[in-house]
Amino acid sequence: MTRLGTPLSPSATRVMLLGSGELGKEVLIALQRLGVETIAVDRYENAPGQQVAHRARTITMSDPDQLEALLSAERPHLVVPEIEAIATAKLEELEEAGLVRVIPTARAARLTMDREGIRRLAAETLGLPTSPYRFCDSLAELQAAIDGKDGGQGIGYPCIVKPVMSSSGKGQSKIDGPADVQKAWDYAMAGGRVSKGRVIVEGFIDFDYEITLLTVRALGTDGQVQTHFCAPIGHLQVSGDYVESWQPHPMHPEALRKAQDIAERVTADLGGQGLFGVELFVKGEEVWFSEVSPRPHDTGLVTLATQWQSEFELHARAILGLPVDTTLKSPGASAVIYGGVDATGIVFDGVAEALSVPGTDLRLFGKPESFVKRRMGVALAHAEDVDTARERAKEAASKVKPRAADAEAQAE
Ligand SMILES: Nc1ncnc2c1ncn2[C@@H]1O[C@H](COP(=O)(O)OP(=O)(O)OP(=O)(O)O)[C@@H](O)[C@H]1O
Ligand SMILES: [Mg+2]
Repeated sequence: MTRLGTPLSPSATRVMLLGSGELGKEVLIALQRLGVETIAVDRYENAPGQQVAHRARTITMSDPDQLEALLSAERPHLVVPEIEAIATAKLEELEEAGLVRVIPTARAARLTMDREGIRRLAAETLGLPTSPYRFCDSLAELQAAIDGKDGGQGIGYPCIVKPVMSSSGKGQSKIDGPADVQKAWDYAMAGGRVSKGRVIVEGFIDFDYEITLLTVRALGTDGQVQTHFCAPIGHLQVSGDYVESWQPHPMHPEALRKAQDIAERVTADLGGQGLFGVELFVKGEEVWFSEVSPRPHDTGLVTLATQWQSEFELHARAILGLPVDTTLKSPGASAVIYGGVDATGIVFDGVAEALSVPGTDLRLFGKPESFVKRRMGVALAHAEDVDTARERAKEAASKVKPRAADAEAQAE
């Protein structure tokens, strides 16, 4: 599809985003700039991406009937999943029937929808190095897996328990010894996305650092898919949620070679075109595969400040069959701005102060409702070096003060 049309006309190139949060919003903006007609779908009204698309649709994306009805009404040329919780079996069925084209593929969306599909593919089919792991459906199974009483080699302590369906660290906790097992199980049951009591327990990897390797599968001039890598992104996670990221993260050449090899293999298997966020743990020259998103990655928000083409522009170009350039423009960093309050229609004080920090920029996502731990914005910074950029991004983020809008201010 190297020929693009005119939006809102019979020649339009139509792209539908399934999930329209802050990452989808940037993909939509990149598509808009190329004159693509965009449809932003989310489960709630006025989601960030819905505010910048030609059309907004609000449905339950995990409901196969609602999804099918919307697809037949809108007839998009490309369907771009932005979240995991969608009716992927329906997408596979429609893709097989030649009725939709899913990015990167419907199979990739299904395999990465929960932790089991992708972990089994990476470790058991592709033989990539991962943490030792087991899937468990009860507290008793979890204890047996840790102790090696389920016939396998014991996972031992410390280990990490995660619901198979969850993201951003929800329901995830570390187990340091036998006393923590029950607590971790209960926490996982409360934090999983669906009431399917299944968890993964993983051996704890004592890594030196972790990276996201943004990997792009895009068409070359010969019409064949080529794999491109962005410079490694370092990041800091607190309770399984990203709070800071920076690019580039220096790596031992052998570790970088292994990281790129792992990323190449897993993305080649998932197939299709688009950008992937490959999460890896690194210790010295050793590299472990952790997980992969077949779409832009939250830690990759930093590329808005660091690359000539951000991860969102790269994704937009790759899915449209256009050439990509993953060159770094400048070292940079990002720092998350949390809501800090539970309220709707909040205000942001301190924006001018934040932007007076040299080399900084902001994204305020425009989410209608704030929660204490909801990501409401991000500060971006570029600098001569990563350390300075990190300081700048953190300083800018700390100056933005989200507050509940008081009645008096609203009346003005
Ligand atoms: N086996 C492990 N050993 C050590 N640390 C781990 C392990 N698994 C996860 N972590 C830590 O927890 C973080 C979140 O884990 P993971 O990426 O699996 O969860 P997630 O909920 O999918 O997060 P996100 O959606 O934000 O990517 C990792 O980035 C890493 O810092
Ligand atoms: Mg992760």
